[in-house]
Amino acid sequence: MTDIRAICGSVPLIPVLTIEDVDRAVPLAQALVIAGLSVLEITLRTETALNAIQAVRAACPDAVVGAGTLRTAEDLTRCVDAGAQFGVSPGAPERLMDAVDGSGLPFLPGCASATEAMRLADRGYSFLKFFPAQAAGGTAMLTSLAEPLSGIEFCPTGGITIDNARDYLALPNVVTVGGSWVAPKALTKSEDWKGIENLARQAVSHLTQ
Ligand code: 3PG
Repeated sequence: MTDIRAICGSVPLIPVLTIEDVDRAVPLAQALVIAGLSVLEITLRTETALNAIQAVRAACPDAVVGAGTLRTAEDLTRCVDAGAQFGVSPGAPERLMDAVDGSGLPFLPGCASATEAMRLADRGYSFLKFFPAQAAGGTAMLTSLAEPLSGIEFCPTGGITIDNARDYLALPNVVTVGGSWVAPKALTKSEDWKGIENLARQAVSHLTQ
C-alpha cells in the first residue's frame, strides 16, 4: 500500500510506540499485530528507534511499520533507510515537507489549526494528523472544521484513550486515531506482552462495534 489514507484507514487505531529497548520491539509489535493492530508508528524519540523499525520490519511481515515524530529532512532519510513504510510528523515544517515531496514515502503530516490544514491541502495533503488532538480542541474542533474544510480528513492523536476514541471515530472527517494507551510503558517494561495483546484486543473490539 502506498497511499497513506489507505494504510491508516485499514485500522481503527494506530499504536504510537516509543521503544527504549530494541529487544522489546519485536514481541511488542507481535502482540499488537496478533490482536489486529497491524499499522504501527514507532516514534524517533529514542536512540533505538531506527533499530526497532529495522527489527520489526524483518521479523513481522504482517505489520506495516511507520516512523513517527519526524521533525527534519534528516529524520526522513534515516527512517527510509531503516525501512519505514510510512512517516508521521507532529507538524509540517517547510524543509521536512520539501524532502517528503521528493521521497515517495506515504506521509501523514501534522496540523493543529484551520490554516495549517489548508496549507497542507494546498500542497496536496488531504489526510492529516490532528495533533495534539485533545489539547488542540478535541472533537469540538474537528466538528467545527468538518464543513469549512470538507474533503480534508484527520487522524487525531494526542490524549486519545479507550474512553474518547469512539467519539473521534464517529466524526465524518476522522479516518482513524493514534494513541499510545495500548502499549503502556509499565507493561512494556515488565514485558507483559499478553497484557498488551489484551489491551489491543479490547481496543479493537470497542472501536469496531
Ligand atoms: C504522538 O506521538 O502522536 C502522541 O504523543 C501520542 O499521544 P498519546 O501518548 O497521548 O497517545
